[in-house]
Amino acid sequence: MWSKQRAAERAEDRAAREFVDRLVNAWRRVCERVPGLSHTVQVASGTTVVVPTLARADLSGPDPVLVVRKIHGQLIEDFRADEASRRIAAALGYDRIRVYPRGSEWVRIELLIGDPLDGEVPAPLAGRGLSVSDVEITIARDELGNLLRQSWVEGPHVCIQGATRSGKSVWCYSALAQLARLDDVLIAGSDLSGLLLGRPYVGTRHHEWQATGSADVEAHRDLLVRLVAEMDTRIRNLPPRRDKFTRFHAGFPLIVVVLEEFAGLLRLASTAQVEKGQPKMREQLLALYGRLVSEGHKAGMRLMVVTQRADATVVGGFERGQLGLRISFRLDDQEALVMLHGQSARDHLEEHQLAPPGVALVQAPARPLGRVRGPRLMGPSEDADYARYWDEIADGAARLHEVAA
Ligand SMILES: Nc1ncnc2c1ncn2[C@@H]1O[C@H](COP(=O)(O)OP(=O)(O)OP(=O)(O)O)[C@@H](O)[C@H]1O
Ligand SMILES: [Mg+2]
Repeated sequence: MWSKQRAAERAEDRAAREFVDRLVNAWRRVCERVPGLSHTVQVASGTTVVVPTLARADLSGPDPVLVVRKIHGQLIEDFRADEASRRIAAALGYDRIRVYPRGSEWVRIELLIGDPLDGEVPAPLAGRGLSVSDVEITIARDELGNLLRQSWVEGPHVCIQGATRSGKSVWCYSALAQLARLDDVLIAGSDLSGLLLGRPYVGTRHHEWQATGSADVEAHRDLLVRLVAEMDTRIRNLPPRRDKFTRFHAGFPLIVVVLEEFAGLLRLASTAQVEKGQPKMREQLLALYGRLVSEGHKAGMRLMVVTQRADATVVGGFERGQLGLRISFRLDDQEALVMLHGQSARDHLEEHQLAPPGVALVQAPARPLGRVRGPRLMGPSEDADYARYWDEIADGAARLHEVAA
């Protein structure tokens, strides 16, 4: 019995050693080529290139793992950088790597076939009747399989950008369905398309706080005026010794202000007539937006700005600072990625151009930019997201009517 087990262990050791032997040359070559992965040192006989030591392999799990000793001064980020990790994976014959620290001197590198973001992320729907203070909203799953969850009471304003068919709407359906389940959340906002807001909300408490369609720009302006007035009233009524609202109830909800394709609304507004003596419609909209972005948070309002590409008008330096949760699905225009996430996004430009629908780069306060997959409302078929969203919103309304009756 014992000897059988020892024989098995010996075979495993041998397989691990052979695995390392097979990869060691490719490992050295790729480390030499990638900046940050190797150091050049002068020795008596000339120059040599030092690379991290490929110490051993661990083949006991589902994916092979390399155990590597870092060179002095090397950071885990040197291995995780987008270009470095892609080159390592390609050189070793895998699709991707996942790098974990192991003590201060070592890293573990998991070698993966396929994308860890393959596979859907179902949006969890909380029971009804809960408070926004009790529930965290699932915003994504990361490459390590962790769910990213965010409290909307604690959370910042959100900006979502992405090219057409990249997954913006699906993300919004699942986020808004989760939020609409909460009794003390009001879903307000402006949506030219009238798909995200508007029709699904007919008969709900949210509907009167929504402006939809492109026929009437003034209706969108008037809605923003109402929201800013509500914001001002709330701020005037802040209790003594408080600088923001943190408690909500059905009579005083947290207000999610969805601005779906606000840039499109601005374009439409640039040709709209205004009353004599009034500023241009576009200027009015921008001023109202600016006030909501800068002061809405303390009044219990959370923006959800959805756009095909973040541009300087909507997400300039100031707004970017306020829109703390930033989500970029695939983009055609790579500069928009830098516009929303800053220079750190440059590492991701190339790969992100090919991101499948639903895969995004996410950046949140205290969370560096990283790849994730957004959740979706799982339905009976691929294209059922919108129908599920519609039902979710309608069910909530039906339930409130029952409670009232
Ligand atoms: N998280 C996801 N997981 C799996 N598939 C997704 C996900 N998100 C989106 N998709 C797929 O991509 C398709 C397009 O997504 P979506 O309608 O959200 O794009 P969009 O960015 O809103 O595009 P548009 O700008 O044209 O409105 C969806 O119908 C769905 O099939
Ligand atoms: Mg859409």
